[in-house]
Amino acid sequence: MERPIAYDKLAREERFVRKRARDIAELRMAQGLSPMADLASRESIRERVHGILVGELQAMEGAGRTVCDFPDAPWEFTLDMARQVWDESRHVEIYLGLLEYLGGYVGEFAESTILWRCACAEDAAARVAGVNRGLEGLACDVFNQLIHIARKIGDPVIERAVDFVLADEITHVRMGSRWLNELTKGDPDRRRQAIAFQETIDERFNLGGVRLDGAHEEVGISIAKEARRLAGFTDEEIDKLVRSTQRSPVY
Ligand SMILES: [Fe+2]
Ligand SMILES: [Fe+2]
Repeated sequence: MERPIAYDKLAREERFVRKRARDIAELRMAQGLSPMADLASRESIRERVHGILVGELQAMEGAGRTVCDFPDAPWEFTLDMARQVWDESRHVEIYLGLLEYLGGYVGEFAESTILWRCACAEDAAARVAGVNRGLEGLACDVFNQLIHIARKIGDPVIERAVDFVLADEITHVRMGSRWLNELTKGDPDRRRQAIAFQETIDERFNLGGVRLDGAHEEVGISIAKEARRLAGFTDEEIDKLVRSTQRSPVY
């Protein structure tokens, strides 16, 4: 089997529209908007929900790819990744429902495949560090903020739906921490490289100052310290992420 699948070969129905992440951000900035949709209005929440939907789709594809790419990994690892495919497929369904609830439709906004491309690391340890700890950590931030905003605007549908998804993402981060440790046991170099890969992803998704440690209403993406603690990040790791957001280059 060819591995990894090139980002432009992901199977999609015709209604999906694909664009490079950088091009989407540049187009938005040319219109005087932030690089990614904020949560300030129902319209921008709809756009954010569309972005999350395609992210969930790619998370499902990434976890499935990991099942195939590492046939010699411990079977519990494969089982965890297969469970994750199932979880992510439910997330896709939940976000499809939320998109419809918000009056949107698939293809209303462009899909970038940046998450998938991050999920194509060659080493299984790097992949779980980058995807399950980096990207799913980002999901914890984004979902926690969305839950908070939904509660504030009095929308229990969004609040509860996203809360169900967040509970799963917390377990995905924990899986990542477990397998990062187990796969790199006795191999500090491999561990260092996996963590370095995760840090490049964290840095990239700070989005040049969009992700910050701040009030949910005031920053583009707020760091979910409590959810991250529940997910097994240490205080030291959370502090390190907060520090990294303070020195990110402009997108
Ligand atoms: Fe998910
Ligand atoms: Fe996930």
